[in-house]
Amino acid sequence: MFDNDSLVLGIETSCDETSVAVVAGGRQILSNVVASQIEIHQRFGGVVPEVASRQHILAMTPTIRRALADAGAGLEDLSGVAVTYGPGLAGALLVGVNAAKAIAFGQDLPLIGVNHIEAHIYANWLTGQEIRFPLMCLIVSGSHSDLVLMEENCRFRLLGKTRDDAAGEAFDKIARMLDLGYPGGPVIEKLARQGRSGKVVFPRAWMGKSYDFSFSGLKTAVLRFIEQMNDQSEEVTRADIALGFQEAVVDVLATKTARAAKEYGVEQVLLAGGVAANLALRERVSADVGKNVLYPPLRLCTDNAAMIAGFGFFQLQRGLRSNLDLDVAPGLRINDE
Ligand code: KG4
Ligand code: ZN
Repeated sequence: MFDNDSLVLGIETSCDETSVAVVAGGRQILSNVVASQIEIHQRFGGVVPEVASRQHILAMTPTIRRALADAGAGLEDLSGVAVTYGPGLAGALLVGVNAAKAIAFGQDLPLIGVNHIEAHIYANWLTGQEIRFPLMCLIVSGSHSDLVLMEENCRFRLLGKTRDDAAGEAFDKIARMLDLGYPGGPVIEKLARQGRSGKVVFPRAWMGKSYDFSFSGLKTAVLRFIEQMNDQSEEVTRADIALGFQEAVVDVLATKTARAAKEYGVEQVLLAGGVAANLALRERVSADVGKNVLYPPLRLCTDNAAMIAGFGFFQLQRGLRSNLDLDVAPGLRINDE
């Protein structure tokens, strides 16, 4: 029923989403089940690692079953099992890695350990759009802000990274300061729509000619502003602050991405990671770069296993696979070549 060389099962458990997907040929999603634990963690205002691991244990097998059923596939149809082995929470990663090993061992299938950050880029391969190298990718998530040049599949050149907080982390921290809950990105974006542009202007860390990012100074500036707000004679709303903050983040991300795209003469610019769900960022990067900016649909920007299976397929094609003693790597970074 299926082309046997193409079906990869993907498993993702790096944070608070238990996700399993079946992807054909690295580009076609047959199923992508995301079991979110977000409501449990929202009670604590952030992800509690121990709770996350145990929820993954509960959700793992039912999620695998559902992903296979949704795809109309059985384990015997698979040509490989891809799993996130880092970065992420150690205990959470272990659940997915062990489930993947069990399937790979039982079915005698190749196991493909996948770097979660690199996989975010591959969400762009799942949209049916043509991908052309060389390309520049901005990966902005809860734990990373990386500017990456790709000249071919599965090879990454890291041009810039955050020196302190990740972009998504900054959104989450500002949301907490403004009592908006977790995760911060979507709520800040929504509130910012009611903000008045220019009411509050926060500093941008340009870091000279470097493609690195820094958001901790901005975070401190917002904190100071909130603390001193009572002394302000002119009325400034939380929406104005949310917009001022978002504009500062988007300005730096878009300006550096556009500059790098020009310097390296790329064919396309790709956005990836949870913060790529932000419409203001998408619009600004598109405006600055001018053309050929791709981004995944919202559900593929945030954590999901389809991107793991998709990237896993391309790794498998290049003969990249892992042994059954694969360990988790909580602090894994982009494999910079
Ligand atoms: O990629 P992701 O789902 O998980 C990680 O690998 O970290 O990214 C989650 C991050 C969170 O920090 C969240 O606040 C942020 O992405 N995020 C957003 C938006 N949606 C999610 N940030 C800005 N605007 C959004 N619409
Ligand atoms: Zn992620």
